[in-house]
Amino acid sequence: MAFSLVSLSLHISSSFLSFIFHFPSMELQPLLQFFTNHLYFFSLLLSLTLLLLLIAIARVSHRKNILCNCQTCQAYLTSSWSQYFHNLCDWYTHLLRTSPTKTIHIHVLRNTITANTENVEYILKTRFHNFPKGKPFSTILGDFLGKGIFNVDGDAWRFQKKMATLELNNHGITFFAFEIVKSEIHNRLVPLLHSSTRNGAVLDLQDVFRRFSFDSICRFSFGLDPNCLERSLPMSQFAVCFDLASKLSAERAMALSPYVWKVKRFFNVGSEKRLRQAVEVINVLAREVIKQRREMGFSENKDLLSRFMSTVHDDDTYLRDIVVSFLLAGRDTVASALTSFFYLLGKHPEVESEIRVEADRVIGSREDLTSFEELKQLHYLQAAMHESMRLFPPIQFDSKFCLEEDVLPDGTKVESGTRVTYHPYAMGRLEEIWGCDCLEFRPERWLKDGVFHPENPFKYPVFQAGFRVCLGKEMALMELKTVALSLLRKFHIELVEPSCGNPRFSPGLTASFSSGLLVKVRERGLEQQLNPLLHISTS
Ligand code: HEM
Repeated sequence: MAFSLVSLSLHISSSFLSFIFHFPSMELQPLLQFFTNHLYFFSLLLSLTLLLLLIAIARVSHRKNILCNCQTCQAYLTSSWSQYFHNLCDWYTHLLRTSPTKTIHIHVLRNTITANTENVEYILKTRFHNFPKGKPFSTILGDFLGKGIFNVDGDAWRFQKKMATLELNNHGITFFAFEIVKSEIHNRLVPLLHSSTRNGAVLDLQDVFRRFSFDSICRFSFGLDPNCLERSLPMSQFAVCFDLASKLSAERAMALSPYVWKVKRFFNVGSEKRLRQAVEVINVLAREVIKQRREMGFSENKDLLSRFMSTVHDDDTYLRDIVVSFLLAGRDTVASALTSFFYLLGKHPEVESEIRVEADRVIGSREDLTSFEELKQLHYLQAAMHESMRLFPPIQFDSKFCLEEDVLPDGTKVESGTRVTYHPYAMGRLEEIWGCDCLEFRPERWLKDGVFHPENPFKYPVFQAGFRVCLGKEMALMELKTVALSLLRKFHIELVEPSCGNPRFSPGLTASFSSGLLVKVRERGLEQQLNPLLHISTS
């Protein structure tokens, strides 16, 4: 090895010198003369430098396992897994299922991936301080998320968490959010679906839910209305750039070495150029949101941005990061959860029918929900929503960074400075956690005598768990259930090809179906509304 490195470096240095000598020009003559006089000295120096450089690269590759030859790493590097699995998450699920400890290593990524409940509790709670987001990860997402809550640790995280908790745990605010969601459904979502019932039009429900959740989160968090659900308007440029930035940032995390994207970023080429352009649009529009909020006055307002503005005052870069983080938190996750929920209902009419039966019992023949209290009584709906996110968590995996070398409860050693990932998507599909029917969509598993029973959050970390648990969980569930109920009571939604098959996901920070969710929508007939069981026999 050492011999080949020496000969390689000598060869490179002699090639370099011969290149210099075959490239004479007037300006180079004195320099060349100097080199000629000291030829052997420079040749030796260059060889030694190259030798040291190659040794350093070899050591780093060895330490980082960049050259790992194991079957899993080779399958990752050559993408040969894609011959057998539609999605990377399905391949990881297969590997995790077959691992005795439910933990695997992707050496080339320096990543330990686990679906072991005890490990998850250890990472998210017991040894929380040893598993922060970490600098490598916040660098990857830094251009997009800046110093927003998802991308920081320590004091910056504590401050934003405190502010967001004050906002999101306030009962008045939840009521405010409920009113926004109801008005968005009544005035925009339902009319849009009504209009699509004509002429057997095919609708991309994923696109509709993205527009819906974008409008809702903007109205709730910033007190501004982008009106994306007005479908005659193109999807706002902001939203399009937002999707692109999320996708390209996620792809950075999949690169074998950060140097790949860092070099592209330095030269502003390829995906990094597109990321920079997308982030520029996001920045312009986020600043516009802040400017408008400032002009409209913020001291009296209930929205989240106003609350931050009264504390942060003039730091517009920080406010921009807060705007972007809350959009990511509230838009993509909710749209993703609704999309997979309607996908599963399309395949399970018996669950859809059960939801309607329960709603008729609790709400009666009235079309709309009137109160929060009513929503809480819908146990089957709550169970169905949790069950859907068990199989299709909006955030399929989440990574942390190991500060000091550690040993997980299953005995797995984690090196300092490497990545640790817990995988809710795989966890939802493990027999050891959910039993032998783990792949079935069965809301009943969440009910005891008809009453919803939550699970251990480390077994179901869909909203994360421990110290960094999702702060918008209750609000999100309210939004998901209100939308689902309103649509199910008014429409019959049928999947159409290619959305009937197993979903393929696009790369991104949250799960999205790469071909959208294509459906046909029909008004529910009067008889169906009165007798929901009729729906099954006729479909
Ligand atoms: C189905 C919908 C949702 C799901 C599945 C979900 C899931 C998650 C997950 C997994 C995290 C941890 C992310 C990380 O640390 O990397 C998180 C954090 C967070 N979520 Fe949600 N979320 C949802 C909706 C919302 C909504 C609607 C809001 C608020 C408007 C929200 C606000 C937050 C905030 C502020 C955090 C950061 C908590 C912290 O770091 O301390 N989420 N969420």
